[in-house]
Amino acid sequence: MPVRLLNGTEIARALRQEVALGVKELHQRHGVTPGLAAILTGDNTASATYVRNKERACQEAGVLTQTFHLPQETTERELCALVERLNQDNRLHGILVQLPLPPHLDPQRVIAALSPEKDVDALHPVNSGLLAQGRPRFVPCTPAGIQHLLLRSGYSPEWKHVVVCGRSDIVGKPLALLLMQKAPGANATVTVCHTGTRDLGSITRQADILVAAMGSPGAITADMVKEGAVVIDVGMNRVEDAFNKRGYRLVGDVAFEEVSRKAEAITPVPGGVGPMTVAMLVRNTLMAAQHSVGQA
Ligand code: GUN
Repeated sequence: MPVRLLNGTEIARALRQEVALGVKELHQRHGVTPGLAAILTGDNTASATYVRNKERACQEAGVLTQTFHLPQETTERELCALVERLNQDNRLHGILVQLPLPPHLDPQRVIAALSPEKDVDALHPVNSGLLAQGRPRFVPCTPAGIQHLLLRSGYSPEWKHVVVCGRSDIVGKPLALLLMQKAPGANATVTVCHTGTRDLGSITRQADILVAAMGSPGAITADMVKEGAVVIDVGMNRVEDAFNKRGYRLVGDVAFEEVSRKAEAITPVPGGVGPMTVAMLVRNTLMAAQHSVGQA
């Protein structure tokens, strides 16, 4: 059987259309238009592209956006002062601090300065805590995107063994917490692997659903995958490519060709998890605006 490609671009488009309806309804009922502030610090070109994609997706759904591009040498005090000013601005319902920050800035302290009610990336300790307790306010965008992608493709994680490779605060950890919840669309048995895992392949081969989120190009090879598994590739690695006009191409954490011959379904890179992450940010911003008027 040929592998099934899980088309995140298409599913994300449908999701954004649903969000756009919610935005209209919120405006009709309450006269409120959701607003998102995005803060881009420094000159990371990949981050600039992500922020542009997020802005465009918001605008298409009717969400207002305001982007703050701060110089590389911005101090923590200046960045936190901006965050605090945006916390107070009631036209803005969501604030996104694009990561990574320049190395002299501590992301945990900056994230902690966000109002948890506006933390649409769900990275503030209050929001991580709520997710850990199984009563999330917002779910981090990539984990939420992966759950929606699975559910809308007919691969519910319920009763399945999900193996997550990667323990980042932004993907691996919150995804494990999300999918192990006692809740519809979750209820999975989750194993988290990381750089300290011995004999990684012996664990990944047990996965019904295998999630690669380690940031290592092509690290998951066919011998590490069970026949018929569903493979979700979160990797977004730029590798040099002299034949590409940009000088690089994007590859995931999965060796796509060889794993495709073994898996039942797989997400492409690009066009898999990436667009779902963006759609979830738009959705979380709508939810933040709905909360602000006591709806939802
Ligand atoms: N950097 C990579 N992914 C993300 C994300 O989902 N949110 C933020 N804020 N930064 C990121």
